[in-house]
Amino acid sequence: MKKTVLVSGGAGFIGSHVTVELCQAGYDVVIADNMSNCDETNYKGVCAILSRQLPFEKVDFCDAAAANALFDKYHIDAVIHFAAFKAVGESVAEPLMYYKNNLDSFLNVLEAARSHGTHVLFSSSATVYGEPDNPPVTEQSPRQEATSPYGNTKQMCEDFLRDCVKAYGMHGIALRYFNPIGAHPSALIGELPRGVPNNLVPYITQTAIGKRECLSIFGNDYPTPDGTCLRDFIDIVDLAQAHVCAVTRMIDGKMEEPYEIFNVGTGRPVSVMELVNAFEKVNKIKLNYRIAPRRPGDVMAIWADPALAEKKLGWKAKRSVEETLASAWAWEKRLAEAGK
Ligand code: UFG
Repeated sequence: MKKTVLVSGGAGFIGSHVTVELCQAGYDVVIADNMSNCDETNYKGVCAILSRQLPFEKVDFCDAAAANALFDKYHIDAVIHFAAFKAVGESVAEPLMYYKNNLDSFLNVLEAARSHGTHVLFSSSATVYGEPDNPPVTEQSPRQEATSPYGNTKQMCEDFLRDCVKAYGMHGIALRYFNPIGAHPSALIGELPRGVPNNLVPYITQTAIGKRECLSIFGNDYPTPDGTCLRDFIDIVDLAQAHVCAVTRMIDGKMEEPYEIFNVGTGRPVSVMELVNAFEKVNKIKLNYRIAPRRPGDVMAIWADPALAEKKLGWKAKRSVEETLASAWAWEKRLAEAGK
């Protein structure tokens, strides 16, 4: 019998890509989203890629009764929780909003999962490692004190999951994402930042299309090979496929510990400057950029040691940075065609 996965935040950037990969791997998916941070573009794109309508529930997971009702309505084997606010700067200005939304919603998911015997996958972040002393980071590398309420919610939610698994005999996995970039090769789903993008790749593509005048490269005086920050940019489809492996591991009863953590990265450090150059080269575009002061709070260098995910999940990032940057550009052009 087909297994069913509930994807909270399934209309968002990561959630929509994960939904596609899950369906293509043979899972049934129920998408739930309160649509607070997106429109219907990605939901429609997912249905177009899969050539069918997927069940969609407009639910705010901060509403405990509504969240629980979803678990009553569908037989959910695993829930993947993406529904959360994600802007670092905004979280510093509005900590209560972030704590309330990101913590309440996950607590409600945990409560419903506990009472329905559902496996839980939490979308965590490499932000939990802070500025690592000695990259690459393994899952054993120490977590550092969070530098923003957003980062703090990721750490706290990891701990919620760990403690619930221990106390209630549940099973849970936290995936720590590095820097997800790119879009689906169909260009039917992708990232839809509201307003001025915070993240590098949407800023690059919006500059290339003419929506932004000039990309600022935040700092070229770091003690790194070319002076710009180093990151582990991971293709969104590669990242989505890690979720399929993790969900399958839980549902098939293959977990070695009831709570497991995996890095989801490529293991390949790429500098901001290298990424910009690669974008220009692969898409044959001259990008307007300038060197700007360092951005406060930025980590200088972080990338994953992805060996554990390869060994235990049988998952490895496959796509090149060039391929991913071409997909990001195809998506931006498609948005422009659609007048977005
Ligand atoms: N950058 C620029 N110019 C821009 C935007 C970004 O030079 O316009 C640089 C940043 O300074 C940084 C790199 O590009 O060196 C990557 O920046 P992003 O904002 O794309 O990503 P971050 O690594 O800062 O963010 C990631 C995750 C967040 C997480 C954060 C924690 O995307 O979810 O790490 O620090 F919260």
